[in-house]
Amino acid sequence: GIIQLRWATFGAPAQVNAQPFMDCKQEIVGAENGNIVNSIQLQEILENEGHTIQSTNDGEICVHVVAKHMRAGKTMLESIQLAYKELKGDYALIFFNKVENKIYAIKKGSGLVVAVTENEAYCSSDIPSILPLTNEIISMQDGDIVVLEPGKAEFYRADTGEKVERKAKVHKETMESAQKGGYDHFMLKEIHEQSDRARDLIDLLNESKFVEPFVSALKSAREIYFVGCGTSYHACQLGSYYFNKIANKRAIPSLPQQFIEEFGNSLTSEDAVVFVSQSGETKDVLNALNYAKEKGCKILGMLNVLGSTLMNISDVYLPIACGYEISVPATKTFLNQAIMFLYMAFRQADKDTSELAELPGLIQKTIDETDESCKEIAEHIKGWKELYYLGYGITHPIAKEGALKLKEITYMHCEGIFSSEFKHGPLSAVEKDYPVAFITAPENVDIMISHINEVACRHGKVLLIAEDNEVLQKYATSFVKVPKTNQILFPLLATIPAQLISYYASKNLDLDPDFPRNLSKTLTVD
Ligand code: G6P
Repeated sequence: GIIQLRWATFGAPAQVNAQPFMDCKQEIVGAENGNIVNSIQLQEILENEGHTIQSTNDGEICVHVVAKHMRAGKTMLESIQLAYKELKGDYALIFFNKVENKIYAIKKGSGLVVAVTENEAYCSSDIPSILPLTNEIISMQDGDIVVLEPGKAEFYRADTGEKVERKAKVHKETMESAQKGGYDHFMLKEIHEQSDRARDLIDLLNESKFVEPFVSALKSAREIYFVGCGTSYHACQLGSYYFNKIANKRAIPSLPQQFIEEFGNSLTSEDAVVFVSQSGETKDVLNALNYAKEKGCKILGMLNVLGSTLMNISDVYLPIACGYEISVPATKTFLNQAIMFLYMAFRQADKDTSELAELPGLIQKTIDETDESCKEIAEHIKGWKELYYLGYGITHPIAKEGALKLKEITYMHCEGIFSSEFKHGPLSAVEKDYPVAFITAPENVDIMISHINEVACRHGKVLLIAEDNEVLQKYATSFVKVPKTNQILFPLLATIPAQLISYYASKNLDLDPDFPRNLSKTLTVD
């Protein structure tokens, strides 16, 4: 069988575009994950040759291309080899035909892994989907074709047709993460796991043999970049603050395409780029990675999924040790990415990292002590259409992350902004009861009070995420009190109420926070 969960890029999410597709004679069935960049040209050629294309999805083109070669008398393997030459772009394709009891798949640029058990054979875009079935997994290489039969997998190179060996690796992760463990949603479970996962990461950083090469690659780099998408990008931004504040070092956070467009021409082989991706499969990130590799940069991977493409192509990688994250909105993986950056900043400065040992306890305390006030704020959010999250300096990335969490799972409009920028435009939105949330780190209370005043004096609602403080209290419509710590650890703790507010707000709206509409956990398309 073939199942494809579409993240609709080409063609509306409609039945006609649903995969898998069949060829005109209904002899071949297939599905695609990826992006065929010359599909329009191929469609024209196919239609001129008499094929009828029914959908507006590029996956259908792949099926017709293979069918065309089969009709000309080629074997399935030969037809896929020929299709490989014609289909431009990055993709993973899977096919079977009416006659053979075999499944064929090809990988080019997009993730594809294989597993063989006694009587079955599987292939899939990622490892977590296969782990419940077996933990012995074979990673395919770009340009590999696999032929699956019950209990058997054979691999061939698409360009030469040569048969090759691909060995399985045993994955140690358990799929305990795939159980809700008594929680209503994975998201809440994953928020509550954060103290334990932080402890796991700190243990790993104290033990892993990969830490030293990672640290020294950063130390010797001419220029350092941190590259990621979505939540991982916010971790990059926080990492940049940590490098500046703790190690007096510049690290430039960047989105992947921005990295190519804005910094690409000046990259050299003396630069180090940390690619941050929970899944290790995000296509945007892999595109930037390939670009940096061509420029000779040192490639450092920070990832959660072991065996992922990012892990396999990094010069040095470090896992963030979270176990699988199932919920689409990233929570525990953000916190551990941020902790990893904090650790790296300490190491860049040759400072002691023992302060990190306090973190698991503080994280738990924050969950326990902020849960109730987050529930209360979430109640109010039901009636709102929009919200600004403001942070200053080191809490700016947390404001952006808080806003991203909220918009991802409540569908409301929410922006995270550097608080001093608010007066340069967005302030015009404020009127009586307009809600603005401020994430205030202990050393920035004074400057934040000025920014809070701008909203308070216009009778807006002021939501505060901060350590207990008498002056701040006077302004607050709602106050989430974060346990006392210091400027450096505060942003990590302040993340937790931002996560909880979004979770409860989504739940109150009767939405499913784990699976927000239109979004996907792993985006393997450009
Ligand atoms: C998708 C997810 C986001 C995630 C982003 C980056 O957009 O919906 O939650 O932050 O990808 O994912 P990565 O696996 O690269 O960290």
